[in-house]
Amino acid sequence: MTQQAATKILLGISGGIAAYKTPDLIRRLRERNAEVEVVMTRAAESFVTPLSLQAVCGRSVRSALLDPQAEAGMDHIELARWADHLLVAPASAHLLARLALGLADDLLTTLALATTAPVWLAPAMNHQMWLHPATQANVQLLSARGCVLLGPGSGSQACGEIGPGRMLEPLDIAERLLAPRPQCMAGRHVLITAGPTQEAIDPVRYIGNRSSGKMGYALAAAFTELGARVTLVSGPTALACPLGVERVSIESAGQLYEAVMQRVQTCSLFVATAAVADYRPQDVVATKIKKEASSLTLTLVRNPDILAEVAALPEAPFTVGFAAETDAVEQHAMEKLQAKGLDMIAANLVGAEHGGFGADDNALIVLWHAGRQVFPMMPKVRLGKELAKLIADRYAASLAN
Ligand code: PMT
Repeated sequence: MTQQAATKILLGISGGIAAYKTPDLIRRLRERNAEVEVVMTRAAESFVTPLSLQAVCGRSVRSALLDPQAEAGMDHIELARWADHLLVAPASAHLLARLALGLADDLLTTLALATTAPVWLAPAMNHQMWLHPATQANVQLLSARGCVLLGPGSGSQACGEIGPGRMLEPLDIAERLLAPRPQCMAGRHVLITAGPTQEAIDPVRYIGNRSSGKMGYALAAAFTELGARVTLVSGPTALACPLGVERVSIESAGQLYEAVMQRVQTCSLFVATAAVADYRPQDVVATKIKKEASSLTLTLVRNPDILAEVAALPEAPFTVGFAAETDAVEQHAMEKLQAKGLDMIAANLVGAEHGGFGADDNALIVLWHAGRQVFPMMPKVRLGKELAKLIADRYAASLAN
C-alpha cells in the first residue's frame, strides 16, 4: 500500500498565553501525518521556548527574518513555497492587525505575505480585545481575503474573565485543519471564465469594463477545493492565480471565445462569470487616433455570445451563466436562462453601492429550471464556496436524471 504524502504545515506562533499549548498542537499535527516547521514571533518566545518546540517538531525553530545561518538552509521564500498550509496559532490581536495591514516586519508576517498556501488563523486573546471593533474589522478583512478562522472558543480565560477569545484546543485545530475534504468534483474538469475583456480601438485605447475577476477566481479556488481540475480563462486582472488552477490569459472577447472553444470538449461544467464585451470596434485603427476632429464616431459590431454558443453545443457541458443587471434582476436573469438554454444562472445587482463589479462582497439570486436559491451579501471568497457547492449538487442531480 502506498503511503500518503505528509501535509506540510508552517506553524506560526505569536505572543499570547495560549502559546503554551503549541507543543501539544505540534504533536497532534504530527500524529496525523503532518510535517511541521515552526516560526515564532519574538513575543511568543516569552510564553514557550524554541527548545521545547524543536524537541517536539524535530526541526530547528525560526524567528529571525535575516538569520544568515537559517537563510543558507531553506530561505524564507522557499519556506513560504514549501508549506501546504500556514497555520497561525495562537493568533494574537496584534498579529491579526499586522496581517490585515499587510506588514512584513518579521519572519512570520513576511511568510504570510509570501505564501500562496491557505492561511488558517486560531485567534486567542482577552474577550474585550476580541470583541473590539478594530479586531473584528481586521478579522472580517482577513476572512474576505480567504483566511480561514478556527475559533476562537468561549469560556474562562487566563485573565480570569469569561467570554470569547480562547484558542481552540490543539486536537480540535488539528482535526479541522487536516479533516478529509469532500471531493465531490474529483475527476471533473471545470472551465470558468473570469474578469473583463478589452476591445482595442487603437494601439493604446480599448473598450473595457469594471470587472476585477474576484467572483470568478473565488469560484475557481472553490471548485479546486472540491477536487475538480479547473481551467480559468481570464481577462486582465491584478489577481494571483489560485493554487492548483490552470490560467489562460486573454484580452478580447474574440480571444476568450477561442480559448473556451478549444477547451470546452473536455469539460463537464462551464461557468461564465466573465464580463464579456457585447460589442467591439468594427475596425482597429493601426496608429494612435489623433484628437483633431471635434467628435469621433466608433462603429461597433456584435461579439459572439460565448455562453449561448457553449450551451447550444451538441455535447454541451452543464452550463452556468451569470447575469449582471441594474434592475428587475430576477426577471432578466430568468429570461437569459431560457433564451440561452442554460442549466443555471447566478444573477447579481450591479451598479449599486454594494456588491457586483470590483467589490469584495456580492449577493446572488441563483435560478435553475425547477428552483432558486438566494445568497445574501457576503465576501466573494465565501460566496464562491457556497455557489460551487450548489452548482456541484445541481450537476450531480442532472446526472442522476
Ligand atoms: O469580476 P468581479 O469584479 O468580481 O465582478 C463580478 C461580476 C459582476 C462581473 C459577475 O458577478 C457577473 O455578473 N458576471 C457576468 C457579467 C456579464 O457580462 O453579465 P451579462 O448579463 O452581460 O452576460 C450574461 C452572461 O453571458 C454572462 O455569463 C457572460 O459571461 C456571458 N456572455 C456575455 C456576452 C458575451 N458576448 N458572451 C458571453 O459569454
